[in-house]
Amino acid sequence: MRIDKYLANLWIWSRKEINKLIKEWWVFINNEICKKSEEKIKFNDEISVNWEKIIYKEFIYIALNKPQNYVSSNKDEAHYKSYKELLKDCPYANLVEIVWRLDVDTTWLLLLTNNWDLIHKLIHPNKDIFKTYYVEAKNSLSELDLKSLENWVKIDDFITKKAYIKRLWENKIELSISEWKFHQIKKMLIAVNNEVTKLHRKSIWKIELLDLAEWKWRYLSDNEIKIVIS
Ligand code: URA
Repeated sequence: MRIDKYLANLWIWSRKEINKLIKEWWVFINNEICKKSEEKIKFNDEISVNWEKIIYKEFIYIALNKPQNYVSSNKDEAHYKSYKELLKDCPYANLVEIVWRLDVDTTWLLLLTNNWDLIHKLIHPNKDIFKTYYVEAKNSLSELDLKSLENWVKIDDFITKKAYIKRLWENKIELSISEWKFHQIKKMLIAVNNEVTKLHRKSIWKIELLDLAEWKWRYLSDNEIKIVIS
């Protein structure tokens, strides 16, 4: 790919700024000054702009530990900041999108990528990818409640698919669901006459936060990427 096109795709600089940066020798490819906008780059080439390093990769995969009060949209909403704010130190921030969003008050794992084909494949309703949530409910959950949540409950006009539950405490469970509906877990708890008081996403399929601190992001490892693209 041409260096100017690649840098433009990052949505950090305008075309005009990129041409100026190249003309003034602020752009390096593998430690050599890049003097032409039409210079070609290859996978894993190291590019630096103003001494900031960027590695050329076609696809980027990121795990983000989302705190409360950040919205899963690309723009701030009302008095909530966009999750993009948490990616300020990531050179690919403008390229990536969320695979499954979280509510503003739901925290922990967000998966981000610029691999659009993969996003479409993963979110397809026939692809049962389980997401596991830590759920705290306002009131105790009975065995019957857990059975209902596991087998099916009715939310809006729709019957939920098979879910899996691990009980942690009277009112605390880990709930794994494969579907993706707006406020799904909150609505599932309402369906058993209860209410979510805390909701964290622990994992998406086999991807976990590991030791990633709140507010931080990391690239997925090669093994994790193999898992998500397989
Ligand atoms: N279910 C919800 O209710 N909220 C989320 O953020 C995710 C799943």
